[in-house]
Amino acid sequence: MTRESFKALVLNQDEEKNTLAEIKQLSLGDLPDEEVLVAVDYSSLNYKDGMAVSGTGKIVLQWPMVPGIDLAGTVVESASDDYKAGDKVVLTGWSVGEKYWGGYSQMQRVKAKWLVPLAEGLDAKQAMGIGTAGLTAMLCVMALEEGGVTPDSGPVVVTGAAGGVGSVAVALLANAGYKVAAVTGRESTHQYLRDLGASEILSREEMSEKARPLEKQRWAGAVDTVGGEMLARVLAEADYSATVTACGLAGGFKLPSTVMPFILRNVRLQGVDSVMCPVERRTIAWQRLAKELPESMLNAIEQVVSLEEIPEKAQQIMKGQVQGRVIVDLNA
Ligand SMILES: NC(=O)c1ccc[n+]([C@@H]2O[C@H](COP(=O)([O-])OP(=O)(O)OC[C@H]3O[C@@H](n4cnc5c(N)ncnc54)[C@H](OP(=O)(O)O)[C@@H]3O)[C@@H](O)[C@H]2O)c1
Repeated sequence: MTRESFKALVLNQDEEKNTLAEIKQLSLGDLPDEEVLVAVDYSSLNYKDGMAVSGTGKIVLQWPMVPGIDLAGTVVESASDDYKAGDKVVLTGWSVGEKYWGGYSQMQRVKAKWLVPLAEGLDAKQAMGIGTAGLTAMLCVMALEEGGVTPDSGPVVVTGAAGGVGSVAVALLANAGYKVAAVTGRESTHQYLRDLGASEILSREEMSEKARPLEKQRWAGAVDTVGGEMLARVLAEADYSATVTACGLAGGFKLPSTVMPFILRNVRLQGVDSVMCPVERRTIAWQRLAKELPESMLNAIEQVVSLEEIPEKAQQIMKGQVQGRVIVDLNA
C-alpha cells in the first residue's frame, strides 16, 4: 500500500439500479477533500453495511460510494488542531458509508468532528469488534439506567440477541449484574448466548406472536433490535415503569402496538440512535465499553474478513446468518 495506490471496496449503480461492488486501487487524489487523513487498520460489517453492499433499501445516498460505517486507524495528516499524525482514532456513524465515503478503504479522509480518540484500554481491532453495533448496545444500556432500571429491578430482555447489537447488549448487561433473557431465532446460538451471560433463552417464534394490548408483566427493561410484532410484545409484557429501548428494525419497521403499556403501566419507550449521537455522549459510551465489556466478549469475536470477502458476508448478514460481530481487516 502506498499513498498513490491503496485498496478500497467501491460501490456503483448500473442503469437498472443494481448495486455493483468492486475492489479498486485508489490514490489520495480520489478521496474526499476532508480535514483528517486516516490510515484505516480495521472496519466492521454492520447490518447497515450489509444493506449498502447488497443494494437493499436506500442506504447509499451518493455514487460511487466507499461503504463502511465504522473505521479505526491512525491519523496520517490533519488540518484540524484536534488531531495530529500518529493519533489513534475511531469513527462510527455521521452518515459515513451512506452519504460520505467510509471505512472500506485502506486510506480515508474524514471530518475531525466525526472522530473520537481510541479509548484507553482498546486497540483498533477490539474497537471494531465493538463498532457501531457495540456503541449502540452501550447507548441502550445507558438509556436503561437513565430510565431507572437497575439489576434489582428484574429481568431485562434483549431481542435479536445473537446479532451484533444484541450480543454486546447481552454481555454488557450480564456483566453489570442484570438477569438477561435473550431472544433468538437460531438454536445454534444458545451456547454462545449463555457464554455471554444470558440466563434465559426465548425463541423468536414465541416472542413474535401477536400480543394482546397488555400481557403478563415480565420485563424491567428491554433492548429491542427487531421492531415489529416483537417490539409490540415486549411493550405489552413490560413491567410497571419499565424502560424499553428501541434501536433496530431487523424484523420490520412497523410498531403494531397500542397506548395501553404507556397509559396504564407507565412504560417508557426510549429510542436510541448512534449515528448522530453527540460526541460527549459517544466518548462516555466508548470509555465505558473499554472498561465494562468483558474480555470473554472481545475474545468471542472470531470473524475477521478481508475487503474481498465483504460482499458474501453482506448477503449473510441480510439473511440473519451472522453470529456476533464481523471485523474487516484492511491489510488482510
Ligand atoms: N439505532 C442505531 O443507531 C442502530 C445502530 C446499529 C444497528 N441498528 C439496527 O439494529 C438492528 C440490528 O443490527 P445488527 O448490526 O446487530 O444486525 P445483525 O447482526 O444482523 O443482528 C440482527 C439480529 O436480529 C435477529 N433477526 C434477524 N431477522 C429477524 C427477523 N425477521 N425477526 C426477528 N429477528 C430477526 C437475528 O438474531 P437472532 O438470530 O438471535 O434471532 C439477527 O442476528 C438493525 O436493524 C440495525 O439497522 C441501529
